[in-house]
Amino acid sequence: MQDFDYQTPTRLIFGKGVIGRLPEVMGNYGKKILLAYGGGSIKKTGLYDKVKELLADFEIIELSDIQPNPKYDPSVLEGVRLCKENGVEVILAVGGGSVLDCSKAIAAGAKYDGDPWDLISYKVKAKAALPIVDVITLAATGSEYDCGGVISRTETNDKIGYLDPCLYPAVSFLDPTYTFTVSKKQTAAGCADAMNHIMEQYFCEDSTILNDGFMEAGLKSLMVNTVKCLEDPEDYTARAEMMLTCTYGCNGIYALGSSESGWPCHGMEHALSAYYDITHGEGLAIITPRWMRHILSEKTVGRFVKYGINVFGIDSSLDRFEIADKAIAATYSFFESINIPMHLRDVGIDESRIDEMAHHVAVNEGLENAWAPLTEKDIADIFRASL
Ligand code: NZQ
Ligand code: ZN
Repeated sequence: MQDFDYQTPTRLIFGKGVIGRLPEVMGNYGKKILLAYGGGSIKKTGLYDKVKELLADFEIIELSDIQPNPKYDPSVLEGVRLCKENGVEVILAVGGGSVLDCSKAIAAGAKYDGDPWDLISYKVKAKAALPIVDVITLAATGSEYDCGGVISRTETNDKIGYLDPCLYPAVSFLDPTYTFTVSKKQTAAGCADAMNHIMEQYFCEDSTILNDGFMEAGLKSLMVNTVKCLEDPEDYTARAEMMLTCTYGCNGIYALGSSESGWPCHGMEHALSAYYDITHGEGLAIITPRWMRHILSEKTVGRFVKYGINVFGIDSSLDRFEIADKAIAATYSFFESINIPMHLRDVGIDESRIDEMAHHVAVNEGLENAWAPLTEKDIADIFRASL
């Protein structure tokens, strides 16, 4: 059991219709709001009108068109400019993880005099950030309960996970009904993302019975409920459990007392979506089983045995490597069964930039320190096996 120092200051307000409390909550942070949102889903669902109606007494400045894999330029830069020029007091992010991640970078940039990239690239430590409130509309990233945001910079092919304790949302509104309209593609990708968040914490040297049970239940919950959400997108109970399981994903609670894993699949996927702008969860689903197969060894097999038996119910009397093999195959089959494209070629990635991406990952992600260390060649091999 490892030592830890843990605090999540975010208030979660969960349930159908909780948005009615938005004016009361926003009033705690100020009158001038930056309303951040994406490419238009909140206008189609009516959530935009609802928010505007509820906040009629506030001054609202809008930042729209935040894209998936949110971009430093223009979204972060534009948001920082709007906050500074208008004296914004609080950011309200309404949308998926991309909108919220972008809002986190804006929140820190708005309180910093220099180039916001200094903060995102860890050249300068943020001293403060504007408070952030969010209404999350897609179950996936867990950004609503963590202090990270992932920002892409197109011209340098960078996609950086920017973490700082000052980036925790102050309040997250979680209404599962807002996820009813999420497409099958994004529902499945969200499931793969959240499952991978758990796996990134599960596959490590030192865990506990408590953490393993929590994570194994999380994986089973995601698989069962995603299938239900795909069958009936308005299944409230399934959407609700999926939402909460995703919310826990990235804030460390699944792994308190566990040793570090290095989050290798995320390190590798960030290059794929930086170079090719693919959907994060799909990139993860493609890489994960290939990474598993690549790192399976005498040292790692024990974790795969536990995973296989407790998550997929594989016969515990089989040989250890046979159990591991079946567990990896079951992981692949589950992703395939929810219609995730399972080859890089299916999402527009070919051989041409694999070595360049592997080099980028090796230089920037520190995966030689992962639980199962990865060299540049290992990373390239995993990418090639994923083609
Ligand atoms: O842009 P709009 O029009 O809103 O449409 C979005 C977008 O096209 C749509 N959408 C969202 N809610 C919807 C909806 N469509 C219909 N109904 C709704 N209720 O879904 C599309 C994808 O949205 P996006 O926000 O990009 O998805 P997600 O929440 O999966 O976020 C992905 C981003 O989060 C980062 C990823 O790298 C990626 O950039 N991550 C952030 C993490 C964090 N902060 O902790 C951890 C994760 O590992 C992840 O890396
Ligand atoms: Zn992720």
